[in-house]
Amino acid sequence: MQDPVDRSRRRFIFQTGVGLLAAASMPAWVRAMEMHGMPKLTPNRASPAFKPDVEIELAARQGSISILPGQATRVQHYTAKLLSGPKDTLTELPSCYLGPIIRLQKGQKVRIHFRNDLMEPTITHWHGLHVPALMDGHPMYIIDPGETFVYEFEVINRASLNIYHPHPHEITARQVYYGLAGGLIINDEEEARLELPSGEYEIPIVLQDRRFNAQNQLIYGPHMHDRMMGFYGDRILVNGQPNAEFEVASRAYRLRFLNGSNARIYKLGWSDGTPVTVIGVDGGLLESPETFPYVMLAPGERLDVWADFSGRPKGTELTMRSLPFSGVLPMMAEHMGGRGGRGGMGGMMGGMGMMGAMALPVGSDYPLFKIRVTRETGESPKLPSRLSKIDRYTLDDVANPSKPVPIAISESPMAMLLNGRSYAFDDIQPFERIPLDTVQLMEIFHTSGGGHGMGGMGHGMRGRMMGMMGGHGSEAQEEGQGMGGMGMRGGMGMMFSMAHPIHLHGDQFQIISRTVAVERADSYATVKDGLVSSGWKDTVLVMPGETVRMIKPFHHFKGVFMYHCHNLEHEDMGMMRDFLIE
Ligand code: C2O
Ligand code: CU
Repeated sequence: MQDPVDRSRRRFIFQTGVGLLAAASMPAWVRAMEMHGMPKLTPNRASPAFKPDVEIELAARQGSISILPGQATRVQHYTAKLLSGPKDTLTELPSCYLGPIIRLQKGQKVRIHFRNDLMEPTITHWHGLHVPALMDGHPMYIIDPGETFVYEFEVINRASLNIYHPHPHEITARQVYYGLAGGLIINDEEEARLELPSGEYEIPIVLQDRRFNAQNQLIYGPHMHDRMMGFYGDRILVNGQPNAEFEVASRAYRLRFLNGSNARIYKLGWSDGTPVTVIGVDGGLLESPETFPYVMLAPGERLDVWADFSGRPKGTELTMRSLPFSGVLPMMAEHMGGRGGRGGMGGMMGGMGMMGAMALPVGSDYPLFKIRVTRETGESPKLPSRLSKIDRYTLDDVANPSKPVPIAISESPMAMLLNGRSYAFDDIQPFERIPLDTVQLMEIFHTSGGGHGMGGMGHGMRGRMMGMMGGHGSEAQEEGQGMGGMGMRGGMGMMFSMAHPIHLHGDQFQIISRTVAVERADSYATVKDGLVSSGWKDTVLVMPGETVRMIKPFHHFKGVFMYHCHNLEHEDMGMMRDFLIE
């Protein structure tokens, strides 16, 4: 189906097609392609047998858009055109670098002609959607400037908010940062029956952070410490706008949050202490609404929030803030400037702290956007008490109740790894091969710790993984607990332990348990009441010292599906692996 072609063509493009933005990054992808031995495949073409209900032309291109007062900002962005299908399929966000919101119905057959009008390779992934491996935007399918990749898939996901964004290995973070991302909403009948707030009463809220220079141009130059911590901006953009405000009527709204930041984690809370009512997560509606004092939202995650402004008089102002929390950055970075502002500039650790974005440290308290009631009304929809039906998995459903598929996080100053390995193409390990049509127990855990040293897979982890893969369940468990405890007691590992939003492609999963090492309980306490663990998820925030167990089905499609950290700097650094479903 796909023929390799000569990769020297890429080098030719590198030497001749020089744009400013592109020039800085070319070595990264050339190196990536060569080091990882990724083949150059011919882009997928339209198949005549596929009869689309919706057909879209999507392009990634360079442009410039006015974000701050004064000079326009150079960006990379998605533009789209509807070729056929329902008129409400595409909605532009006003003067925004984000791509249009793509609205699809469950069951629709979709064809997307994706054209690369950048000066560097890219490929688009439909984060949250379960589509055939060839349509999933794996980095092996990157296309060169001028090429078009045709996606064809049927929407099998339930109603949900998803994300489309680039996925070329080692340059995803930069492409997303420069503006390549968009929301993708799926609707279905189960959701339609609820008559949730829609139209102007359904507001997408894409949270991102950016740094600008004095000429209003985006700054993105991750140094080693940015790559370790993730790249943080010093100002918040909501739907691509600074100082965002929404004018509302005194009634219920549906706020659809998407964290499109490269690395920043938010703790969402209303300024007046109103609890946050969550009706949905990554994979769509919960069974019933759940109320939280605040909610955590990590990169790649989504939240569907019911916000009822009924009874609030005209003129009322309410702010959505990110509230204080700790523990998501390595301890030393937090203590030496990440939260404290201008201190601790000396040495590598000071630098790391600084890169927690000195002006807007992650975990500090700052406003995200303002709500202003400008119209009073007595009419509002009521919050349904039942939202959807979710068949919950239990251990009885899984193929591997005593041997969870491991996703081990290891952290060191030089590398963030999954299962002890950095990303490499065609490097699938035995435990990364999953039989199609099985339901698997999975466990995400940290291996970082005193005894393990700085590099890769330490002995403790190796023992634990072997236990998981081959040994008796209970022994593996005991060893795991032991190592976890030891790991947390000190040494370099602990210093570098941080939070990671772990994302799995393919089917959505259900979280069945979260446990945290006692050594980390204090900082965990600042986030734990805002972790939404019910419903269907594709991305889960794993805090330092935390172990998350989930159950994930592997249905419908064979092939290679990624799992990775959605801290995009981590992802680009190689904190990514493939599962082979066979
Ligand atoms: Cu949102 Cu593999 O990505
Ligand atoms: Cu990470």
